[in-house]
Amino acid sequence: MRYQITYAGINKVVEAADDLDSLLDISIRNQLPHLHECGGHGRCTTCRVRVLDGIQNLTPKSPLEKEASFLRKWDPSIRLACQTYPKGDVVLQRLIWSMAEVTSLQKELAPEGKAEERPITILFCDLRNFTPLSSKSMNFDLAYMLNRFYTAMGEPILMNNGIIYQYVGDEIIGVFGTTGGTREKNCTDAIRAALGMQYALAHLNQVELKDLDMELQSGIGINFGKAYVGHLGHPTHRQFSVIGDPVNVASRIQGKTKETGTKILISESVLNSLPENVLDTGQSFELELTGKEGLARLTEVRGFREMDTQLELQSSLHLMLDDQDKFASLFYDKVFSISPETRSLFKRNMTDQGRLLTHMLSGIVYTLARPDHLVEGIRALGRNHQAYGVTSAHYPVVRKAMLETIDQVLGNNKTQNTMTAWTESLDFILKEMQQSQS
Ligand code: HEM
Ligand code: FES
Repeated sequence: MRYQITYAGINKVVEAADDLDSLLDISIRNQLPHLHECGGHGRCTTCRVRVLDGIQNLTPKSPLEKEASFLRKWDPSIRLACQTYPKGDVVLQRLIWSMAEVTSLQKELAPEGKAEERPITILFCDLRNFTPLSSKSMNFDLAYMLNRFYTAMGEPILMNNGIIYQYVGDEIIGVFGTTGGTREKNCTDAIRAALGMQYALAHLNQVELKDLDMELQSGIGINFGKAYVGHLGHPTHRQFSVIGDPVNVASRIQGKTKETGTKILISESVLNSLPENVLDTGQSFELELTGKEGLARLTEVRGFREMDTQLELQSSLHLMLDDQDKFASLFYDKVFSISPETRSLFKRNMTDQGRLLTHMLSGIVYTLARPDHLVEGIRALGRNHQAYGVTSAHYPVVRKAMLETIDQVLGNNKTQNTMTAWTESLDFILKEMQQSQS
């Protein structure tokens, strides 16, 4: 039997022919971008859709889906596309559009109307020199620049599985580990985010502010401890909230970056969460923090001692995919020039195909912070590729074309480490894809 799946919002109607394809399979088959971080295993919930009509035409919830909707208190119109098979006409809406939105899903798992104590890492980042900047140029658009700053500096938090908790004036607050993860991982994620923010700020200064004779600077303080996490406030307006002493301490640590002339300072609890010799640390300080007894030992962080693959990928991703269509067309031109016979494997629209490829590449970089989802997602991609007729002989072609494209597009914006990180990661992705085929 044939039936129609309508994608509301983009007014796209596609035909489905049997109940062997899930709603997610139908999106992929029709080149409609549809996030599926865990590759359709019912774990990540990024494929969720709202069913606007035809809910009776869908298969019942799988146990995994039942659990996800119970924990997240979804209303019955929300379904996991990878777990749902249509048996008749359906109208739906995809609910999550970008990887940047995915980390905020953690907020759904915070308790309602009360707060629960959870071990978390808190990052405070303060922007300096912003006010004088606004008076420096008559044409300077303060709101535009503040938005650019929030976006550029917020992205490293999201890429490292953190939640952007609040903006307070010129300050951004990020929290890591609200739904679990080891102390070591959450602190490493926060430090990587802080280092990513330094790259982002340098880029902002070089590109956006190059004509103004001044530089934006930032100070970042990071602390780890048990804080209370929940949705609090008036019952008609509850907000995701993180409260407790570790949050106040993180703010005070940030304040100390100014007087110590440092960019990133971490507390002893953060330092003790990481194995020795992982961080490239600078000066140490014994300082008094307002409202705290005794002296706090704070350590300056300058970087990781060894190349951090995630940081390299994260800080080059936006430069690389600044023009996604250009990246994809350069890449496919190279693939077809190295191996002309691969052209016949591609049956559908190449612009849409290019967008799916770059969407997936950027998704993979974001998902590095959630490694349990990552491998499942890549293996599912590999199985799809077997069905597209891709064989082991094609993988070296794509590897060569991809690395040449990255090298070309990044131009002078890369270092040896950037290329090493992309080479290692691409090798990992291609190996996992191929293994899932055998
Ligand atoms: C970094 C590795 C790769 C990534 C991230 C990637 C990504 C994608 C994505 C997102 C799609 C859309 C459909 C889907 O999601 O299943 C796709 C389709 C496809 N890919 Fe890949 N791919 C990779 C490697 C390869 C390789 C090695 C080949 C071999 C030539 C290849 C050939 C194809 C073909 C033929 C299609 C289907 C096109 C069509 O139906 O017109 N891909 N790829
Ligand atoms: S839950 Fe559907 S793709 Fe992860």
